[in-house]
Formats: sequence, C-alpha cells, structure tokens
Amino acid sequence: MSELGGNDAIVTLSDGRVTLRPWSRADARFMAEASADPAIRRYNGVHDRQGHPAPPLSNLEAEAAIDRFVLSWRAFAVSGAPGGVGFAITDARSGALVGCCGVDDWTEEDVAQFGYWIAADARGRGYATRAVILLTRWLFELGAARAFLTVVAGNEASVAVARRAGFVYEGTMRDHSVWQGERCDVMWFAALPHEWTG
Ligand SMILES: CC(C)(COP(=O)(O)OP(=O)(O)OC[C@H]1O[C@@H](n2cnc3c(N)ncnc32)[C@H](O)[C@@H]1OP(=O)(O)O)[C@@H](O)C(=O)NCCC(=O)NCCS
Repeated sequence: MSELGGNDAIVTLSDGRVTLRPWSRADARFMAEASADPAIRRYNGVHDRQGHPAPPLSNLEAEAAIDRFVLSWRAFAVSGAPGGVGFAITDARSGALVGCCGVDDWTEEDVAQFGYWIAADARGRGYATRAVILLTRWLFELGAARAFLTVVAGNEASVAVARRAGFVYEGTMRDHSVWQGERCDVMWFAALPHEWTG
C-alpha cells in the first residue's frame, strides 16, 4: 500500500507480520540506542578511513538522521527515485519498532542499493528477511532494474537474510573495506525483477 499526500510520500508496506513505515522523530531514541549495538556499529555505522567506528548517535543526531529521511521522502515524491529513503521496520501486530531498512542509492540507470539492521533483542525472528522481501518488491514496482546489497564477509546472519530473500551471490570484492585497520572482503548479492521469486 502506498499513498502520496501533499509533497510527502507516505509509504507503508506490510505482509501482515512486518510493517515498513517512515521514521518519525518520536523514534529517535530507539535509533540512538540501536546505533550503540556493536554489530550495527560494525556493519551499518559510519567508519573513518582506518575502519574505526564513529560514536553511537545521540538522540539529537538520531533526530537529524530521521529528518534526512524525511527530506529524501519529499525528494522521492517529486522525482520518483527513492535514493536515501528509510523505513522503520515494525512488528505488524504490536507496532513495536524492531529495525531499519533503507535505500542507500538509486542510480540514473535504475539500480537500487539498500541496507538494513535489526535491534539485538529482535533478531532471529524473520523480521529482516521479511523486510528485505517487502522492500525489494516495492523497488521493482518502482521500476528498479536491479536491487543489490553488500555484506562484509563473515557476517553470516546477513548472508542468510540475503539468500533467504532470494538474492543471488555474485562474487566477492577482495579487500573492499576496512575494519579496525584490517582490510576485509565484501560480498555482493543482487536480484533482478524478471528472475526474483521473493
Ligand atoms: C543481519 C541482521 C539484520 C539479521 O536480522 P534477523 O532479524 O536476525 O534476520 P532474520 O531473522 O530474518 O534471519 C536471520 C537468518 O540468519 C540466521 N542467522 C542468524 N545469526 C546467524 C549466524 N551468526 N550465522 C549464521 N546464520 C545466522 C538465522 O538463523 C536466520 O536464518 P534461518 O531462519 O534460516 O535460521 C541482524 O543480525 C543485524 O542487524 N545484524 C547487525 C547489523 C547488520 O549486520 N546489518 C546488515 C548489514 S549487510
């Protein structure tokens, strides 16, 4: 389900178990707390050139991140390209916030890159896989020719999500990123609309 109101695109996507909805400032505390989780800092956070993570977000910084999502939703309402938009992942029945997924980039050639995280206490219940399937279906409805994500080698939970959501492993970019001064390999997973069965 998606609808457009004024200049803002209000998009919610649901499969009855997981609902993706836009972030609001009221969610800032949840985002700030999640940003302190070691795995989220490792795999989703901002790092310096040596792969040292930035400090966790303060509530104010989380609000600013949410405001950037809002601006991207406004840009999407005008351009139809969802680069930079973010969804809160919620439990469809309780409404509880469990994580985040967002479109990192949408190229001029309609290639979409996205990422995700789930708060530590909500992992292992299928939320991420369901969120990726919902997000991918939406990206293809918008006309994406290809959707992809990258996973740092060794992040087995994320590899499992990509595979379960129907993404194809395309290869490994050796030494493509850095963590705490050590180079790491990065795996690429992609789905194409005509072959994806998610
Ligand atoms: C990756 C992440 C989003 C997965 O979230 P989740 O809610 O646990 O995902 P799901 O429940 O949908 O699926 C997890 C799958 O991975 C499996 N899994 C979980 N931890 C695993 C591990 N350490 N090794 C192997 N498989 C693992 C689960 O068993 C499940 O597969 P199954 O249902 O076939 O058993 C979550 O672990 C996370 O946020 N990690 C930190 C941030 C991150 O890695 N983000 C992704 C960056 S690419």
